[in-house]
Amino acid sequence: MPLNKVALVSGSNQGLGFALIEALCNNLGPDASVYLTARDPARGAEAVRQLRRRGLSPLFHLLDVIDDASVAALAESIRARHGGVDIVISNAAARISRDRPQAEQVALFVNTNNHGTCRMIRAFGPLLRDNARFLVVASAFGSLRNLSPDLHGKFDVKTRSLEDIEQLMDDYVGLVEAGQAAAHYWPEWINVASKVAQVASTKIMARLMRAEASRRGILINAACPGLVDTDASRPWFEDMSAAQSPLQAAEDVIWLATLPPGTNGPYGELVQHRKILPWL
Ligand SMILES: NC(=O)c1ccc[n+]([C@@H]2O[C@H](COP(=O)([O-])OP(=O)(O)OC[C@H]3O[C@@H](n4cnc5c(N)ncnc54)[C@H](OP(=O)(O)O)[C@@H]3O)[C@@H](O)[C@H]2O)c1
Repeated sequence: MPLNKVALVSGSNQGLGFALIEALCNNLGPDASVYLTARDPARGAEAVRQLRRRGLSPLFHLLDVIDDASVAALAESIRARHGGVDIVISNAAARISRDRPQAEQVALFVNTNNHGTCRMIRAFGPLLRDNARFLVVASAFGSLRNLSPDLHGKFDVKTRSLEDIEQLMDDYVGLVEAGQAAAHYWPEWINVASKVAQVASTKIMARLMRAEASRRGILINAACPGLVDTDASRPWFEDMSAAQSPLQAAEDVIWLATLPPGTNGPYGELVQHRKILPWL
């Protein structure tokens, strides 16, 4: 008898994360344990209520990805209740406001989107069951080709460690805060550097786990959902008519998160709409 599936999504009280939970509940059936997580208990409870009204039964757990103890508490709870996890989607992200300089926002943005991703990798990598799927929701901006060639060596995923990427991003925060990013070849818009670093962290996790993952059927990838109509993206586009609804966007991400046992790839890739995007 196969074990009932265990799945979790960070930042899933709204936006794409909420749709991923809805799709996972539908896809995995009522016997699965699907964890809707949120940093705010009231917003989390309201999101769970919404899905219950649709006949679904996600579980709830608090998760603030900028807090080591919060990430560790969820990992310990999953370990104690289930022994491991089948699907992890690291999706939580801070937003960028158009109304404030990015220099004021970059520290929280990197702590959430980059260090948060690394916290999820470290906490849940060791809990992955055989045939597990670990995804980081990134973006097409996460291809290294979007950064100046002067920076490419810093993101050499064949040799760099997670700690190297974290240090690099802390240095980047310092440069943006000091108004020095452009002088060091970094782009002005903080989302590009952050997404490249998220994909790099995913590729490094995949490299470090390659032998075990191949033996145990585990797949590790980054995903770009494409443009999704959420409160995060709406302020940046005058015309959202080409954007997908969160549930539409969830379809291809869930495809990647539920590739059946025996699937050998993609592995360590950035995938958008079921196709691998080039790194360079
Ligand atoms: N929307 C797009 O067009 C698009 C395109 C490409 C990639 N993506 C990526 O898709 C992912 C989801 O984006 P979205 O548009 O759905 O964003 P969103 O609507 O802003 O949702 C982000 C989620 O992350 C949560 N979050 C923020 N900080 C957190 C923290 N410290 N700990 C735990 N959760 C936290 C938010 O919780 P609160 O409700 O408490 O704030 C919210 O639930 C992001 O990684 C984004 O970069 C989106």
